[in-house]
Amino acid sequence: MGARKTTLGRDVARALRRPFVDVDDVIAAKHGPIPELFATRGEAAFRELEALVIREAIARPEPTVIAVGGGAVETPGLFEGERATVVHLPVDVETAWERVRRSKRPLAQDETEFRRRFELRAPLYAEVADATGRDIHDVVLAAAGAHVARGALQRLGALVPGEGAVALVSDPQVAGIHGMDAQLALGTRLAETHELPPGEEAKTLAAADRLWQELRLDRAGTIVALGGGCTTDAAGFAAATYLRGVAWTPVPTSLVAQVDAAIGGKTAIDLPQGKNLVGAFHWPARTVVDPALLETLPEPQRLEGMAEVVKTGLLAGEPFWELPDDDLVRRSAAYKAAVCLRDPHERGERAVLNLGHTFAHALEAAAGYEGLTHGRAVALGLLAALRLSDRDTSVVEEVLRPKPVRVDRERAWHAMQRDKKARDGELRLVLLGERGPEYGVVLPEADVRRELDRLIA
Ligand SMILES: NC(=O)c1ccc[n+]([C@@H]2O[C@H](COP(=O)([O-])OP(=O)(O)OC[C@H]3O[C@@H](n4cnc5c(N)ncnc54)[C@H](O)[C@@H]3O)[C@@H](O)[C@H]2O)c1
Repeated sequence: MGARKTTLGRDVARALRRPFVDVDDVIAAKHGPIPELFATRGEAAFRELEALVIREAIARPEPTVIAVGGGAVETPGLFEGERATVVHLPVDVETAWERVRRSKRPLAQDETEFRRRFELRAPLYAEVADATGRDIHDVVLAAAGAHVARGALQRLGALVPGEGAVALVSDPQVAGIHGMDAQLALGTRLAETHELPPGEEAKTLAAADRLWQELRLDRAGTIVALGGGCTTDAAGFAAATYLRGVAWTPVPTSLVAQVDAAIGGKTAIDLPQGKNLVGAFHWPARTVVDPALLETLPEPQRLEGMAEVVKTGLLAGEPFWELPDDDLVRRSAAYKAAVCLRDPHERGERAVLNLGHTFAHALEAAAGYEGLTHGRAVALGLLAALRLSDRDTSVVEEVLRPKPVRVDRERAWHAMQRDKKARDGELRLVLLGERGPEYGVVLPEADVRRELDRLIA
C-alpha cells in the first residue's frame, strides 16, 4: 500500500507500449467501490475476487503490465509459475502510512493495524518477487530479465534461474580476474568451465565448434557467459544453438557489454565476409550486471563503452555520461532494454540504436578493420549524425574526443553505398528529430557524403 504501483505501472506500460491492468480498478468497475466491498462482503471475499482478476490478467496472451495490491501476497501460490515477472516496489512504513492515512482504503484506517499488516507482509514480498525496483528504469530492466546491482557477481549462484547445472564460459583475461569469484558464487551448480579465445577470435566458427564439442550440459543446464561483448555474443550463440537452445545468463564485464552487447537478446559470430553474419535472437534467462566489475577494465576499453553510453544518452535526451558508474550503466541498459522489449526482433524501432553506426561501419570498412576501434568509429559517426540533425556536437567532442581518421575517402563512400544496397537502394539514417530519434531518414547524398568526408583526415 502506498508504494505508487498504479502510477509507476501506468508509466511502465506507456514506456513499453503495453496494456495496463490495475487490479483494484477492475474489481471496483465490476463490483463497486472497494471500501463498500470490504464492508459488505469482508476481506476474504475481496481476496477471492482479487485472485481471480490477477489470474486472468497473468493469463492474457499479450504482454501486460499489471499493478497488484500489496495484500495479494497473502493469497498463497498466486504468483507461482513462469508467466509473470514480479517486481516488488519497496516503501518504508512511515512513507506508506503518510501516503494512505487520509484515504478510504479499508486497511489504512487504523495505524496500529496498518503497521501490523506491513510487518506481516514484508517477508512475503521477498518470497514472491523476482526483482525489486524503485523507479520505472528498474521495472523495465526487471521485465527484460536484467538484474543490475553492485555486488551481483557474489550472488550469481542465486541469480542464475533454474536448478540445473551451469557451464561457465569466459575469456582468459576476465577468467583470470573475476573467474574465481564467479566460480565461488556458483557453488555446487558449477559443472564445467570453458575458455573462449580473447577478443573477436571468440566469435569464429572454430571457437564455437570447440565450445559445442566441449559442452556436457543437458537441456536443463545454463550457460553463464562471463566477459566482454565478444564472450557474451559467442557464448550466447552457443547457447542458442547447443541442443537446439539452452538457457543462458550473460554476466557482462566490459562497459560495452553492460550497456549494450548483453542487453536485448542478440547473439552472433563473425564470418570472413563480415561481422555478426551468423547468429540468433536468444533472450537470456537473466542478465546479471555488476558495475563493480568495471573497476578492473582498462581505460581504452572504457572509452569504447562510453561511445555507446553517449549514443544512448543522446537517444534518451539525457546526459547518462555524467552519471556515476552504477547509474550510468543502469540508465543506459534500461533505455536499450525498453527499445528491445518494444521491438525484440528488430523489425522497426530498434534501428534507432544504430545512431551514428552507418558512418562508423563505413569508416571501419575503409580502415580494413585495423587501427580504428569500433568505439572511435562510433564517436565519429555520432558527430556526423548530430551535424545532420542540426544538433550541438560538443558532448561527443568533450567526452569521446574523436580525431578524424586517416582512411581512403572513396573506399569509405563505397562501403556506405554497400550499406545502401542492403537497404532497398536508399541510404537510411538514424537522426535526432524535434520529438526524439527518427530512423529510416533519407537525405540528399551530397549532404551525407560531405559529413562522411569531414570525419576523414
Ligand atoms: N549483441 C549485441 O547486441 C552487441 C552489441 C554491441 C556490441 N556487440 C559485440 O561486442 C563485441 C565487443 O565487446 P567488448 O568491447 O566488450 O569486447 P571484448 O569482449 O573483447 O572485451 C574487451 C577487452 O576487455 C577485457 N575485459 C572485459 N571485461 C574486463 C574487466 N572487467 N576487467 C578487465 N578486462 C576486461 C576483455 O578480456 C577484452 O580483452 C563486438 O564483437 C561487438 O560486435 C554485440
